[in-house]
Amino acid sequence: MSHSIFRRKPIKSIMHDKGDAEAHAHEGLSRVLTVRDLTFFGIAAIIGAGSFSSLGAAVFTGGPGVVLLFIICGIACGFTAFCYAEFASRIPVAGSAYTYAYASFGELFAWVIGWALVMEYSIGNIYVAFSWSDYFTSLLERLGMHIPAYLSTSYNEAKHAIEAGSSHQESIAAWNTAPLVGGMRFIVDLPAIAINAMITLLVYRGIKESRNFSNVMVVLKLAVIAIVIIVGAFYIDTANWTPMNETGVRSFLPNGFGGVMLAVAGVFYAYIGFDAVSVLAEESKNPQRDLPRGMIYSLVICTIVYIILALVLTGVVDYKQFDGIGDPLAFIFEVKGVAWMQFLVSLVAVVAMTSVLLVFQMGQPRIWMSISRDGLLPPAFQRIHPNYKTPSFSTVLTGFMVGTPILFTDKTFVLDFTSIGTLFAFVLVCGGVLLLPQKEKVPGRFHMPFINARLIYPAIILFALVLVGSLAPRYFSELLNGDFNDYTDAAGKDYLFQTGAVKIATIVFWVICLVLAALAFLRKLSLIPLLGLTTCLYLLTGMSATNWKWFFIWFALGLVVYFMYGYRRSKLHPGQA
Ligand code: ALA
Repeated sequence: MSHSIFRRKPIKSIMHDKGDAEAHAHEGLSRVLTVRDLTFFGIAAIIGAGSFSSLGAAVFTGGPGVVLLFIICGIACGFTAFCYAEFASRIPVAGSAYTYAYASFGELFAWVIGWALVMEYSIGNIYVAFSWSDYFTSLLERLGMHIPAYLSTSYNEAKHAIEAGSSHQESIAAWNTAPLVGGMRFIVDLPAIAINAMITLLVYRGIKESRNFSNVMVVLKLAVIAIVIIVGAFYIDTANWTPMNETGVRSFLPNGFGGVMLAVAGVFYAYIGFDAVSVLAEESKNPQRDLPRGMIYSLVICTIVYIILALVLTGVVDYKQFDGIGDPLAFIFEVKGVAWMQFLVSLVAVVAMTSVLLVFQMGQPRIWMSISRDGLLPPAFQRIHPNYKTPSFSTVLTGFMVGTPILFTDKTFVLDFTSIGTLFAFVLVCGGVLLLPQKEKVPGRFHMPFINARLIYPAIILFALVLVGSLAPRYFSELLNGDFNDYTDAAGKDYLFQTGAVKIATIVFWVICLVLAALAFLRKLSLIPLLGLTTCLYLLTGMSATNWKWFFIWFALGLVVYFMYGYRRSKLHPGQA
């Protein structure tokens, strides 16, 4: 018991609390998931709006070389998956990164991470619901059914499109045709609201039903992606892999590596989801063995799928044609005039997004349940439905958390918010592993290989500094010239750092790398979490000032809630228990 906001919850006590909850059999969640189910859940969560929607923009900015970014992000997420796996094998309870932070960094960080996970799970699902609605509406359109634009567009999107003089036809139509209710235009994304309500109901009804539904959808999704790859392969023109760059030279990287790195946020979003497997700890048959495997298997499968998909996309059509394309997988067949493939891809996109929604909608209540068990949220959050054995109150609340903002936000805002929150959680998980004591190997459990970073990590950082300095000679002088204004005008193109936020974040990144190099040398830290931490921190440097602003507002709100409720009600607070 302690008054400190950094009080830590020992792993033994986390496992003991979970045991208590399970002792009341009627209160516990059902343990039905196998390693195959967990892998399927991972794939269900990973392949979704990122691959079906934002891949187009990534290919356009990076060219064929965006394949490299998929490999880099796959590696970064791979390091992070090892860290999640290490924690999951030590602490197999439903709270995911929240619980891991409680054991390593202490209560305040745990709360902050739990708060950030709302950004990944609930806010992330808003983006998927919007994308689902886009594909669903266009699928109905292909079937000859029309939903009016004002009933399938978000109010904000239509308003911004009009204000910015955008040429996006659907948004303009939504604004111009919307009926007036009380002097305001009635514009609402009904399919997004409807799918959220249906998914909430499914998750409320129970894990078995959800699992079967999810497995079927994953099989469908992978089968059709395989067809896209096979059919697409017949249309590949290898000359598209080395398009002409500005100077008239054929290149795999027509916009240089800088162009590839501009696509980081979208590509990273496509990978989010492998970590969601960890929240199913209390529903898996053998979590300590199967959770790590489920995460790593799903990540490896998706990385391979993404690399091949990116090669097919950039091989079939010249990368420049992807400008403004939101349905890239259907688009390549539109260009080649293969109508049946367009239809199939739209259909599967709807399926893929549904499975992503399902996994995240299941994850959020389970995290809240863990937070509530520790006393940081009211007891209602851990209430389990007597018949369905699901966290009933938390599931319904998640439905509202996703459904309500659909009325007043838009895709861009929620995508940025999700990426920054998830990266922040990944950083803390990798950092948390560095704080864990070494443990004895137990047969049948996952163990992260220990590679002593003492010399390797400082050598990697030194090599990176030399490499960057020689490839971009102005890099460090520009970084340190002290001008942090945002470079928003056209002249910004002359700068290596397009915005002041990127510049500040990059300085902080290098400083942290140097501190980590010193710590690695002095404390013989483990290499895998160090590399996970470094790569995730690097991806964070790509976030814009607006992202950071909303992130800090959300963070401040979380602190207010903690100090008003959680701090005193925590089971670790003197007098509670
Ligand atoms: N990776 C998930 C998707 O692309 C979040 O939808």
